[in-house]
Amino acid sequence: MTSSPSADTVTTPTATAKALLTATHLNKTVQVGEQTLSIIKDVNVHINAGEFVVIMGKSGSGKSTLLGLLAALDYPDSGTVELAGQMLSSLDEDALAAIRQRDMGFVFQSFHLLPTLTVAENIAFPLDIARQPNPARVDELIEAVGLGHRRDSLPNQLSGGEQQRTAVARALVSHPKIVFADEPTGNLDEQNADQVMQLLLDLRQQVGSALVVVTHDPALADMADRVITMHDGQVES
Ligand SMILES: Nc1ncnc2c1ncn2[C@@H]1O[C@H](COP(=O)(O)OP(=O)(O)OP(=O)(O)O)[C@@H](O)[C@H]1O
Ligand SMILES: [Mg+2]
Repeated sequence: MTSSPSADTVTTPTATAKALLTATHLNKTVQVGEQTLSIIKDVNVHINAGEFVVIMGKSGSGKSTLLGLLAALDYPDSGTVELAGQMLSSLDEDALAAIRQRDMGFVFQSFHLLPTLTVAENIAFPLDIARQPNPARVDELIEAVGLGHRRDSLPNQLSGGEQQRTAVARALVSHPKIVFADEPTGNLDEQNADQVMQLLLDLRQQVGSALVVVTHDPALADMADRVITMHDGQVES
């Protein structure tokens, strides 16, 4: 489990060499009372560098659980996740935290902004905790998401759309290799949802990040490079 195939990933000129993230034979169970429920069943996923992948499927089909496993926010019972040649499944929490900081961005349905930090401070947060402050980059992102006039506001002084635009800027500020988003527009009205999604796609294009989005929005699926459909804990297509 601890051996790293990074040399292969870098040097072998095969189709797999392009894969940024490779998840193999993922299984996840949860204990509900006496019962052990299998909620992710032998799932294999690969995401290429810069690719835009949408995950769809009915409520309860395992989309959020899968996203959590791919982002190493949650441990599988078995199976592996490899990101850019690093076997995430074999790393401890500190090492994972470092990779999340450096290589990953996150956007959640409920925004998850830090309530005591301003817009500018929330966006700067990933750079600050990585000890790579970059005020110019923060300013660039604030302008890109149209929040120049709100930079010193706290999250509870913002509309839902403004909060999610802040979260989008924060997710992309450190040029992550991959951004994970779980129903990022689920709490927004249609107009704000469109605007947030467009910003996410524009910024991701500029940064060159791969983007994995869980959504129920068929319009978004039409724009994706690839759609993964979950059904009852398995990848259907
Ligand atoms: N900690 C847990 N304990 C018990 N059951 C769980 C747990 N986490 C997830 N589940 C179950 O696993 C299944 C998949 O959940 P998941 O949240 O991944 O679904 P989802 O596809 O994201 O659904 P939604 O579209 O409603 O967000 C569901 O049946 C859910 O009830
Ligand atoms: Mg979900």
